[in-house]
Formats: sequence, C-alpha cells, structure tokens
Amino acid sequence: MIRTPLTRWFDLTTPVIGAPMAGVSGGELAAAVSRAGGLGMIGVSGSHPASFVTEQCALPVAEQLPFGVGLMIWVLETRPDLLEATIAAEPSLVSVSFGDPAPYVGPLHDAGIAVCAQVNTTADVHRALDAGVDILVAQGTEAGGHTGHRATLPLLQEVLTLTDRPVVAAGGIATGAGMAAALVAGAAGVWIGTPLLSSTEGLNAPALRERVRSASGEETVLTRAFDVAEGAAWPERWPGRALVNDFSREWHGREDELRETPEARRRVVDGRRTGNPGDAPVYAGESVGLVTTERSATDVVRDLDAEAEKALRKVPKLLA
Ligand SMILES: Cc1cc2nc3c(=O)[nH]c(=O)nc-3n(C[C@H](O)[C@H](O)[C@H](O)COP(=O)(O)O)c2cc1C
Repeated sequence: MIRTPLTRWFDLTTPVIGAPMAGVSGGELAAAVSRAGGLGMIGVSGSHPASFVTEQCALPVAEQLPFGVGLMIWVLETRPDLLEATIAAEPSLVSVSFGDPAPYVGPLHDAGIAVCAQVNTTADVHRALDAGVDILVAQGTEAGGHTGHRATLPLLQEVLTLTDRPVVAAGGIATGAGMAAALVAGAAGVWIGTPLLSSTEGLNAPALRERVRSASGEETVLTRAFDVAEGAAWPERWPGRALVNDFSREWHGREDELRETPEARRRVVDGRRTGNPGDAPVYAGESVGLVTTERSATDVVRDLDAEAEKALRKVPKLLA
C-alpha cells in the first residue's frame, strides 16, 4: 500500500484525489473514487444552485465515504450560498481555487474542514500559504479545464521548495508510472481529472465521453474562446484546456471579434444544450489520448494505484 501524508490525513488507502470537475464530477463519481480508497471531489460552478451541492454531497455520505467539494473563488464572490451549502454538507476537504482563498479559509477551518487550493504560479503559492491553506495543488498547464501556463513537473518542483505543507500534483497524470513519478518527485498525492472523463458515474453526456475516448493527446487547445462565447466571467489568467473542435479552430485567437459576433457565440450555447462536440467545449487535458475505454472510476483509481505501486517497487533497481 502507498502511504503519504495525504493518505494519513484523510485515512485513504491510495493517495489519489478525484478532481472536482463541474459538469462531470457529481456525488456518484466522487463516491466511485472514494470506494477505491481515494478521495473523490464534487465540482461546483456558478450555474449550479446550492441544492445541487446538498443533493450531490448526500450520495457519498449515504455510503459513509469520504468526499470533497471544489469551489471556484470568482464564483463565491457573488454566490456565498454555495459556500454555506458546502459547509453544511461536512466534506473532509474543500478546494478553493481560481482567486484569493483568504476570505474562505477561516469559515472552513472553523467548521473543521481541511482546505486546499490549486496554484499555477509562485505568487499563487505565497497567497495560498499566507491565507492558511492546508494542502497545495500544483496544477500544470497540461490539465484539462481551466488552468495556468506552467507545466506540472517544474511547477511541482518549485512549489516543493516553498513549503513543507503537503503538495499534490495535478495535470497530465494518467498512468501508474506517472503517478509514481509525481510521488518520487515529492508530491503527497495526485489529483486526476482527465482519466475520469469517460467514467460510467460521470454527469457528462455519452456523446461527449465518446469524443474523449477517440481524442489524441495532440488534440487539445488552451483557449478563452469558449468562455467568451458563453459569456462566462472567468478571469482572463485562467483559460480552459479543451479538445480542439470546429468552433475552436475558427475562433481561438479571435476572442475580441467573437465578443461582437452573437451568431458564433450562440453556436457554443446551442452545442452545449444539444451535446454537439463540434461546438460545445469538451474540457480535457493532454493525457486524453490515454483514455480509451468507458469504465467505472473505481476501476480507474484501483488500476492506477496498483500500477503506481508496481512502478515504485522498481525504483530501487535504478540504483547501482
Ligand atoms: C471537464 C473538467 C472540468 C473541471 N472543472 C473544475 C472545477 O469545477 N473546479 C476546479 O477546481 N477544477 C476543475 N477542473 C480542473 C481539475 O480540477 C484538475 O485540475 C485537472 O483535471 C487535472 O488535470 P488532468 O485533467 O490532466 O487530470 C476541471 C477539469 C476538467 C477536465
């Protein structure tokens, strides 16, 4: 069994966190990750009502499984109800990412809830440490969804020089050997999103899952085009990594023009409604080429853990 400060903290049997992914990871997906001994997280966005948080959190709770909730700071600024519903659901861990976590750490700690934050730059690290965040998640640009511009491994190495608090690696980790590499580099765990995008327990539509399974690792783009089209108030410093599609081919890099072109913007809104992967954003990371089958998230995490243990057992053999 792999033991790290993360497994000890949350009483896990594998140092794997199932990333919060709004629109994909609800309570069922989180429960499936936790059933494998990891910590599953529920992704919450500004389009969710507080009742979504309450209902989805009830699913892992019903099985007495540990779980976490991922909140977006720029959303919380106008939606304090999401924080209140989260605290009331008593998760083990709450992620407050994409903004300044300072106002949220106190209320979460007062409720006995551990706090983590995804960081994309060294300035983010200092801000999170000053705010009293317990666990830092070094999120590389390889990650699916909204992210920064630095790659996982150099970011992880640098974050580890800045803190003694547990650091979890996120972005591009999708095999046991990759997980072992992050742990050997000093991470206390891995935070996986893309490997769960074709899970049977996900909230994402079957057509979008199928698109994920057929995509190669060269087919992603880091873009603001979808946010501009949907009128999302995402701060500019976090573009989203999504699969290249007809819409991104036409509009990535032309966001100013897109703002003034309502017909084009409507394509994305309609594409999301009808589940058309040609126009809808399909957020996915660079490890997407490794996701080729539809499987339970429990099996994904179990296999990742078993393969990582195998890879770690080989490490001493590298020494003469
Ligand atoms: C479809 C999708 C939705 C996401 N939604 C959220 C979210 O709601 N909150 C959040 O903090 N991160 C979100 N992320 C980012 C993940 O938490 C995580 O950083 C990323 O998936 C890790 O990299 P990987 O995709 O290479 O495994 C999302 C990622 C994806 C792929």
